[in-house]
Amino acid sequence: MCGIVGYIGERDAYPILIKGLKRLEYRGYDSAGVALMNGNLNVYKKKGKVNDLVDFIGTSNTKGNMGIGHTRWATHGIPDDLNAHPHLSGEERLVIIHNGIIENYAPIKEWLKTKGHTFKSETDTEVLIHLIEEIQKDGDLSIEEAVRLALTKVVGAYAIVVIDRLDPNKMVAARKSSPLVVGIGKDEFFIASDATPIVEYTNQVVYLDDNEIAVLTKNDGLKVINIENEVQRPLVHEIDMKIEAIEKGGYDYFMHKEIYEQPNTIADCMRGRLNVQEGWARLGGLSQYKNRICNADRIIIVACGTSWHSGLIAEYLFEDLARIPVEVEYASEFRYRNPIISEKDVVIAISQSGETADTLAALELAKKQGALTYGICNVVGSSIARVTDSGSYIHAGPEIGVASTKAFTGQVTLLSLMALTIAYERGTISTNRYQELISELGRIPKKVEETLKCDDQVKVVSEKMKDSSNALYLGRGYNFPVALEGALKLKEISYIHAEGYPAAEMKHGPIALIDENMPVVVVATNPSAHEKIVSNVQEVKARKGVVIAIVNEGDSVLKEIADLVIEIPLTLEPFTPLLSVIPMQLLSYHIAVMRGCNVDQPRNLAKSVTVE
Ligand code: AGP
Ligand code: GLU
Repeated sequence: MCGIVGYIGERDAYPILIKGLKRLEYRGYDSAGVALMNGNLNVYKKKGKVNDLVDFIGTSNTKGNMGIGHTRWATHGIPDDLNAHPHLSGEERLVIIHNGIIENYAPIKEWLKTKGHTFKSETDTEVLIHLIEEIQKDGDLSIEEAVRLALTKVVGAYAIVVIDRLDPNKMVAARKSSPLVVGIGKDEFFIASDATPIVEYTNQVVYLDDNEIAVLTKNDGLKVINIENEVQRPLVHEIDMKIEAIEKGGYDYFMHKEIYEQPNTIADCMRGRLNVQEGWARLGGLSQYKNRICNADRIIIVACGTSWHSGLIAEYLFEDLARIPVEVEYASEFRYRNPIISEKDVVIAISQSGETADTLAALELAKKQGALTYGICNVVGSSIARVTDSGSYIHAGPEIGVASTKAFTGQVTLLSLMALTIAYERGTISTNRYQELISELGRIPKKVEETLKCDDQVKVVSEKMKDSSNALYLGRGYNFPVALEGALKLKEISYIHAEGYPAAEMKHGPIALIDENMPVVVVATNPSAHEKIVSNVQEVKARKGVVIAIVNEGDSVLKEIADLVIEIPLTLEPFTPLLSVIPMQLLSYHIAVMRGCNVDQPRNLAKSVTVE
């Protein structure tokens, strides 16, 4: 979690840092802080959002051509002013910002105390900067050497940037399991957790690898070494990110904008991969390992949160169309279960950010045990995209709202393309069915656009649901994961307790919760299970539950029984999640707005979860 930004060059660092922090705020927003170097080190930090920091700084001295900034997602110590980053060393010569966790901070802290160090905060980060200081003083070392030696002693995950007041033309950064991107301008460098604070100034970037240390010097350029002190050759990439993609463009919230972007992002995901005229689906990432993937004994999908829900839909897609057994695992549970993985398994990691620590760790385990690994990510150059044997990007563009929307539909689109490609190769679906699915997938962006027109119906439902304390979401088959996703969306941004359930499981327990105060959102768009869903709705109605049904246009049966309906276009069953999730997203969005919640930055959450 947390956002890191740094600048060294000729410009005023402060406005660059503040703008960058605002762009990164989705990664953490417990507190924010900056350190500016202008002969002295001026450190300002404040509990709350970046705007609180700006108010706090007011007209104080913000001069300096070098500086670092941080938005925190607290792991060690409550979100307050003292625990906010940057953290100074004991003698206030060094200053650090950190993303991640230093797992062995406690013994190091004890050892430092015996050396006379005292600490102002409860953070693991402050311990690290004291350790660097102790090592530097002891050997009279350069800052980069002190950082390197200190990092050989720590266990955990980090992206750090350090400044030494006595070496004022230099910034040192290092990473292990947390992302860091260096932007290369003319006689200036930028550093950030992702490229969004950088794109405005340069499109030349270097993605640091694990265990690399970057030394950014005003006159001496960029030097990268590894933790063994071997010089590395950084690869410069050109990034293609438009500034509009990271701005709200007239919407009140990024989430709203991202929901409405979906007709385009789904089309972007298909570009060059689906040809309706010629009747084929293809994925570049599959070609190199086609045989191994098509002949896999099993596909294991590892992911967290919304990406895990996409994985569940993939289970239906792969088993239904490509006839390969699939297991979908919470990444965090998978790795600690001593799972059985063989060389004939393919492990697919799904992750919007490509940085989720649990997913990365699960992948590492799968790799060690010989499975082929495949990454489905949105963020280009992210850790998961780089550590997997192969993979595909979903090309949804930056997703900034903490609640994932367009990444979900991008993932499901990509997984649909993948299932179709594998099914064709394995000959598990007829040519007619294949062609029918290809043509329908091509129509999905247009149908998503039509689906978005349900917004007015959704607003009516939102009014009804906004004061509820609980909600139940039901779905069957392909739409069971959509029910889970709808419930997650509601929980995370409007703080209403919601549970997603397979519709038929309701009678095995949750039915006891139903009374006239319980809204039950039923996803009823699967043509094959319509009658069964109607029965489930009747069961809810018989207990006075309030039924909100997401139905296909023209569904006169459910219109009669349900209290409220939201109509969406009809599609083939495997693609129904791509449409039925849209009213779910809009529902949680409107309810959250009506309840006065901060939609893009819900409490306690962060966009990118880089701690386990
Ligand atoms: C989605 O709305 C959530 N904020 C969260 O569950 C998210 O999907 C999860 O943290 C996984 O993130 P990733 O896709 O970047 O790996
Ligand atoms: N562990 C550090 C802290 O709690 C860094 C957390 C973060 O990544 O924001 O301050």
